[in-house]
Amino acid sequence: MEKKRNSFSSSFGFVLAAAGSAVGLGNIWRFPYLAAKDGGGVFLFTYVILALTFGFALVFTEIAIGRKTKQSCLTAYGKMHKKFSWLGVAASLVPFLILPYYSIIGGWVLKYAVAFSTGNGKAAAGDNYFTGFITDYFPPIIFDAVFLLATAFVIFLGVNKGIETISKILMPALLVVIIGIAIFSLTIDGEDGRTGMDGLKALVVPDFKGVGVKEYFEIATDAMGQLFYSISVAMGIMITYGSYFRDDSNLGTSVNQIEIFDTLVSFLAGVMIIPPVVAFMGVDKMKETAGPSLMFAALPKVFEKMGAAGNIVGAVFFIMVLFAALTSCISLMEAVVSSLIDRFGWSRRKATAIETGIALIFSIVICLGYNSFYFEVKLPNTAPGKSAQLLDVFDYLSNNIFMPIVAIGTCILVGWFVKPKAIIDEATKNGEKMGRRRLYIAMVKYIAPVLLLILLLGSFGLF
Ligand code: PHE
Repeated sequence: MEKKRNSFSSSFGFVLAAAGSAVGLGNIWRFPYLAAKDGGGVFLFTYVILALTFGFALVFTEIAIGRKTKQSCLTAYGKMHKKFSWLGVAASLVPFLILPYYSIIGGWVLKYAVAFSTGNGKAAAGDNYFTGFITDYFPPIIFDAVFLLATAFVIFLGVNKGIETISKILMPALLVVIIGIAIFSLTIDGEDGRTGMDGLKALVVPDFKGVGVKEYFEIATDAMGQLFYSISVAMGIMITYGSYFRDDSNLGTSVNQIEIFDTLVSFLAGVMIIPPVVAFMGVDKMKETAGPSLMFAALPKVFEKMGAAGNIVGAVFFIMVLFAALTSCISLMEAVVSSLIDRFGWSRRKATAIETGIALIFSIVICLGYNSFYFEVKLPNTAPGKSAQLLDVFDYLSNNIFMPIVAIGTCILVGWFVKPKAIIDEATKNGEKMGRRRLYIAMVKYIAPVLLLILLLGSFGLF
């Protein structure tokens, strides 16, 4: 007899869990930096339009596939259409590849949260602290293992007791903390007469200076890439969470809420991060420190400059980032574990134990990529003057190659094989109204695949 499938107890629980997946490190270090670099308001406007059209169509499709098939990603695609079973394999490979390195970065965040909480913020702001830590042998592995085991513990508890409960606690807490720090950031007096308000201007005021067609194309592709990464599609997660979504809940409304939450957190992260960095370092320096180095190198220095308050702000900040990373990591592991359960009929306990073991082994290898297995390669997305290590290779393959392919495959499956009507019917089966119906159909059939192809070609370094 088939076991009754778990489900989230309410659409509120579902929305927070899905938002927990969507809100992650990308919202915190990548969005603010891109917005400030890409003309402030120009980027923000483009991002919101894309979220309402492209983002909406992708999240809506995946959640509906999950709820319709009641399967996680590995088996859901095959159930939609026999010819697309391969897509299930590709889609579940993505979280499988991301989990080991996402947990490593989670471990780095944990290390900083511990450093600031124990009053060692000053040391963490030192020039070689970050590099020293990640190139060390055991400490990164130990922090990674703790982070991974915490994730596994939640997955082990299951959909309701684990994922839903933790999301209901951590997501509201994250929102409160982020609003608190954002307000604080705006009041900062920095160096050379710069204040937090100068940072806010860089973030929101549209700056059309030097923005021609070519430059706008770059801004729009940045916005699209960021959105695509941020909404957690093409990694089997929304399908898996959708399979736990109650049949009597309103799918369209929930998708809107997830997107609003995700976009709001990204924007607030901008208000939290850009003002202090600009106030203390200036706009140009801020634009130079992209990516992880913004969070692990530039921000600790900013916290140090805040004096006594810096340690506390830093501790609260990194604990908040830890929440964001943990709920995302949970969704990655759930997509894999749930796939193993659905495909092989394993118990949750067995699937969790096996996947945790595998992720740990991969993690250790990737950690050693910074010392024993060190090598330098150049990937098409490696910044000039920088080199890529094992972690970047995993990141590049999963995010830049596999994910666009999976998303294009999903659009083709829905747009041309099972037809958008099947998805719309699923979302309106309780008599719900479907807003943006025509837009949705045009998106999955034509526009989204083309936009995704542009992203994919960009990943190959063709633009
Ligand atoms: N959406 C997450 C973010 O913005 C990224 C992510 C989520 C990555 C889940 C992996 C798994 O950071």
